[in-house]
Amino acid sequence: MSGHRVCVGDFEEEARRVLPKAIYDYYSSGADEQKTLADNTAAFNRWRFLPRMLRNVSKVDLSASLLGQKLSMPVCVGATAMQRMAHPEGETATARACQAAGTGMMLSSWATSTIEEVMSATTSSQGSAGIMWLQLYIYKDRELTLSLVRRAEKAGYKAIFVTVDTPYLGRRWNDMRNCFKLPSHLSMSNFSTATLAFSEGDYGNDSGLAVYVAKAIDPSLSWDDITWLKKHTKLPLIVKGILTGEDAIQAVNYGVDGILVSNHGARQLDGVPATLDVLEEVVNAVQGRCEVYMDGGVRRGTDVLKALALGAKAVFIGRPVLWGLACQGDKGVSEVLELLREELRLAMALAGCRSLSEISRSLVRRVNETSRM
Ligand code: GLV
Repeated sequence: MSGHRVCVGDFEEEARRVLPKAIYDYYSSGADEQKTLADNTAAFNRWRFLPRMLRNVSKVDLSASLLGQKLSMPVCVGATAMQRMAHPEGETATARACQAAGTGMMLSSWATSTIEEVMSATTSSQGSAGIMWLQLYIYKDRELTLSLVRRAEKAGYKAIFVTVDTPYLGRRWNDMRNCFKLPSHLSMSNFSTATLAFSEGDYGNDSGLAVYVAKAIDPSLSWDDITWLKKHTKLPLIVKGILTGEDAIQAVNYGVDGILVSNHGARQLDGVPATLDVLEEVVNAVQGRCEVYMDGGVRRGTDVLKALALGAKAVFIGRPVLWGLACQGDKGVSEVLELLREELRLAMALAGCRSLSEISRSLVRRVNETSRM
């Protein structure tokens, strides 16, 4: 039925039908009343394009880069946890699809596949490997944390995206009601003990993941830990989860290589702004001193174009990849990536942009909320 999927929403609908409810709920939910979840997607509708005509758009070049890595388009795959719940091949399928699409993938610390096996899944017989980045949670056990970094370095990952918005897990009501935990045949494969692998533990009458985070993840994380992490790796470091100009300046002062403007798919503090609404503030604060990316609510090519016009170097997609995976494994993820590529190509052409360098701030205008624009 793949011919019938014409937008990311079609993949989500199909995924909702095929996935067990507790798994769909885990992937789709935001925190609390999900105000920010709704706002992440709604924010894109607060901007309109001011396209330029007669620009010979017979060729549109989508090529992009992220910290020196060449990408076929400015759409990358962000970290989403426990992908084998969506499809038996999980993260390895996603990695193959990213490699085929010429884009990069951020692997979650909480993957259900190991750092090494995901990288090998992208490695061809000629030896060329995919562009992989590691999303890092800082555990109370710092040696364990550093072991993840070392494994990523050894396997050829290109950067570390350290998550800074999760000292505790947000309250996700569906997961609490479902007493969410991993299906018994799966584990967080990068950890050797059952407790750390989230395959065993007393989670009581609660979201198992919230209990896991409270036990294992370090809530004392502070800016000094950015210095600590930088001391222990030569890999570029990106902070994931920044939402204000002030924190962005702080991040630059601590020497990060990039900032991912993110509200964790609206799964942490409900009531924070949509990421699109704070992107420009961060971009202006940083003044080119590091790269800035965004994630949150990107569902179509026009969304990508709006984020780029507001200053993002690239965007990351999360849930759309899970829906592709649930529908059809690596083929489904490929389909989602190619759909976004085609939508972006068309949006750029219709807006008169032949390459990313022609996308500027003047391409978009915020809808005047008092008018009917
Ligand atoms: C994982 O990072 C989650 O938000 O559930």
